[in-house]
Amino acid sequence: MAALPLVYVLNGPNLNLLGMREPEIYGSDTLDDIAGRLEDKARGLGLAIDMRQSNHEGHLIDWLHEAQAKEAKAVLLNAGAFSHTSLALYDAIRSIRTPVIEVHLSNPAAREEYRHKSYVGMAAKGVIAGFGAIGYELALDAAARL
Ligand code: DQA
Repeated sequence: MAALPLVYVLNGPNLNLLGMREPEIYGSDTLDDIAGRLEDKARGLGLAIDMRQSNHEGHLIDWLHEAQAKEAKAVLLNAGAFSHTSLALYDAIRSIRTPVIEVHLSNPAAREEYRHKSYVGMAAKGVIAGFGAIGYELALDAAARL
């Protein structure tokens, strides 16, 4: 049987603390809760997911390169605060052909000025933000249709 199309789901700094981190902004679901629901959703869509989290910018860059090497169908990327600072992530996304969908739980455009610019968003295929944890599921739906 042919392998299912693979979607990488990459999460950046401080997202390991989801559930306890500023729940009034990011909600009470943990990253494991989100991963569980995403696995179920992926199964329904005929996709496989590989979900990871790192607090280190270089890991996210290596995983973007890996997604291309593994011929992933798409990458869902919540790069946390690196979204707003990392030219290296911008370059990494531009360096691969794999489509990247930027995901944020909150809506950075409606928050502090320093969150309005996103290097990830400038290089990404599209952006889903402001829907809390279900944003990951919406992004997976979008990835399935690419
Ligand atoms: C975030 C938004 C970022 O501005 C913030 O630095 C995060 C989380 C979100 O998912 O809403 O760490 O990416």
